[in-house]
Amino acid sequence: MSDKQAALDFDIKKIDQDFLDNPFPVYKAMRENDPVHLNPDGSYFLTRYEDVVLSLRHPGMSSDKKVDFKPKFGDGPLYVHHTSSLVFNDPPVHTRVRKLLSEAFTPRKLAELEPVIEGIIDRLLDRLAGQGEFDVVSDYALALPTEIIADMLGVPEEHRHKLHNYSNLILGALDPVVPPEKIAEGHAAVEEFGALLEELIADRRKTPKGGEMGEVLAALIFGEVDGEKLTPVELVQNCIFLLNAGHETTANLVGNGISILLDAPDQMQRLRGDPSLIKTAVEEFLRYQSPLQIGNRKATEDVEFGPEGSKVVIPAGSFIHTSIGAANRDPETFENPEAVDIGRRPNPQIAFGMGKHICMGNTLGRIEGHVAVGKFVERFPNLRAAGEKRFHGRARFRGLDVLPVAVS
Ligand code: HEM
Repeated sequence: MSDKQAALDFDIKKIDQDFLDNPFPVYKAMRENDPVHLNPDGSYFLTRYEDVVLSLRHPGMSSDKKVDFKPKFGDGPLYVHHTSSLVFNDPPVHTRVRKLLSEAFTPRKLAELEPVIEGIIDRLLDRLAGQGEFDVVSDYALALPTEIIADMLGVPEEHRHKLHNYSNLILGALDPVVPPEKIAEGHAAVEEFGALLEELIADRRKTPKGGEMGEVLAALIFGEVDGEKLTPVELVQNCIFLLNAGHETTANLVGNGISILLDAPDQMQRLRGDPSLIKTAVEEFLRYQSPLQIGNRKATEDVEFGPEGSKVVIPAGSFIHTSIGAANRDPETFENPEAVDIGRRPNPQIAFGMGKHICMGNTLGRIEGHVAVGKFVERFPNLRAAGEKRFHGRARFRGLDVLPVAVS
């Protein structure tokens, strides 16, 4: 099949294993041959950098999913969750909730977190050093962000092991096609996780101060913007969202970063020779394997997309898939985009999105990436692959399920 045919035939509802393993050839074919691609279900798929940026910045693009999620989730807990989280709301709800959550990400709070992050990483590395062989994803990449967000929200130690599975089930339900049993598991995960948070919130209301952990939770419970607090549903659902948004994506950044370096030994060598490259290296990992590959918006007015000379109007009411993963490899913006260059400058990657929904945890995610990948590479000079890596099978998020390595 020609590239053009492959692009024209793409169907967001019929994604196969080849695409999940390596979506980039399909993105390229679409960007070159059908950049404003119309799926058989009437939704559009954007792959050019300029178009994805426009969709994220344009005032006529909505993030509200109250109508779109109804057929998929009914009135169940997944519907309540995804339609209450700030990422799937427009102003004024979005603006109010974002202001209240921003309390969690002040420069002071982030500065306080840096030594905590270093301490967690040092302890993890000490433990792994004694093992010789291990899985980077479950033994390392997932541990740091889970600990950090669980600390921010005061989730007790005994519940932390459940968080990754909750997140998988709740975020997995956002994929373009989801079997009914997975939807049922997603509903149950929102309920269980919500009940746990309600208990923590009730405890915290009784003792608003005291205890170092859960400071962010306290800020979300008691914080006010213009005399308004988060409603009880907004509070629980946005805490669930923070845990999901902040641990899965960051774990993917760390796992993808280490895997990219293993696949490109010259770049690993370069980083070892000059550890100060870790900042541009993390930007490159975010560009090359963006943890969030495909976002979405709905047009509330007619908007033109596509290259000069072949513009296409996406009509009001259309659902749009915004492929950040494809945009980050657009040769019109990035020189030699299919190659990894850990010193790449400029690197205007958009892995954290853009516009009013730009990731609130982007500084935190970056710090975690710098510390986790930088210290890992430094600690294990004999690092090498020790088995087949495997990407998890979800189209919107790109990350590994398994990355076996040997270090001794
Ligand atoms: C490498 C790590 C991360 C990546 C790649 C990432 C990516 C993104 C992207 C692309 C969006 C925008 C979605 C949209 O426009 O529809 C977003 C939103 C968001 N992210 Fe992240 N994220 C990361 C880490 C984090 C962390 C660590 C936290 C918090 C602890 C976090 C919290 C949020 C929140 C609250 C939003 C919603 C912002 C809004 O709707 O206004 N993220 N993230």
